[in-house]
Amino acid sequence: MINPNSPLGIFDSGVGGLSVLRAIRQELPAESVLYFADQGHVPYGPRSRGEVRAFSEGITRFLLGFGAKLIVVACNTASAAALHYLRQTFPDVFIVGMEPAVKPAAEHTQTGVVGVLATPATFQGALYASVVERFANGVTLLQDTCPGLVAQIEAGNLDAPETRAILETALRPMLEKGIDTIVLGCTHYPFVIPLIQKIVGAKVRVIDPAPAVARQVERLLEADERWNTSFGPALPALAVRPESAVEGSGTLRFFTSGKPDELANLLPQFLGESGPVEAVIWDSGGVSLSLRLG
Ligand code: DGL
Repeated sequence: MINPNSPLGIFDSGVGGLSVLRAIRQELPAESVLYFADQGHVPYGPRSRGEVRAFSEGITRFLLGFGAKLIVVACNTASAAALHYLRQTFPDVFIVGMEPAVKPAAEHTQTGVVGVLATPATFQGALYASVVERFANGVTLLQDTCPGLVAQIEAGNLDAPETRAILETALRPMLEKGIDTIVLGCTHYPFVIPLIQKIVGAKVRVIDPAPAVARQVERLLEADERWNTSFGPALPALAVRPESAVEGSGTLRFFTSGKPDELANLLPQFLGESGPVEAVIWDSGGVSLSLRLG
């Protein structure tokens, strides 16, 4: 049973998960959120599975320590490396992850050719292999890891010539092979949808999975509420949505293992709103976290 007044915990290697937070704010404006950006370790994409898994576990523990009622792994790379492991390690916690949206893309494509943009670790993971096996349905998937794109987005360069060059290198060959749909398999990439659309044209559909993830979070919260109302212990005060549900006034609190000022400066651009940003430090083994005080 979860306490509806507790915050959601969301994490990513950096600012990418803000694309998921943005969708959650639209779908669930009353929910308070703790957002963790592991900018001391970004990018996750080229890292080993073991490393990303250890970071993901440390961050999940940290967010649960601050009372998070549900964890959103707002990072495809961390989901590929750690989603299964996190669900085993924290069996009592709702954990929502990301997987490349191959299913809707395969259903939508007319040409039968779909582009998928994601990090190397996401493409190598069992999660991607399973999604392809279950849903690709004979559709040709053209993959690209867009080297350097996460770093450009972390720097706020959403329309810079370097960013455009990376995307053109990935997308031009895909266009020549007839893609009509693009799957964004990295939560950083929705922030460059305007640039992608400039390159590929308005007829190519770009799929951002964030709204579907926000709806999944909502479904889980509602299912938990229904379950508690029907079968749970007699705690009626916990079985209703927070008062703020009516006003849409959930609060935001941010943590970064990088530089708080830099994240604070990017929030208006990426999220259109802001909140306090606190610094956290990893222990030397990259296993546990604590707030950096002062
Ligand atoms: N935002 C991430 C993802 O969805 C991670 C990018 C990275 O750190 O390489 O995959």
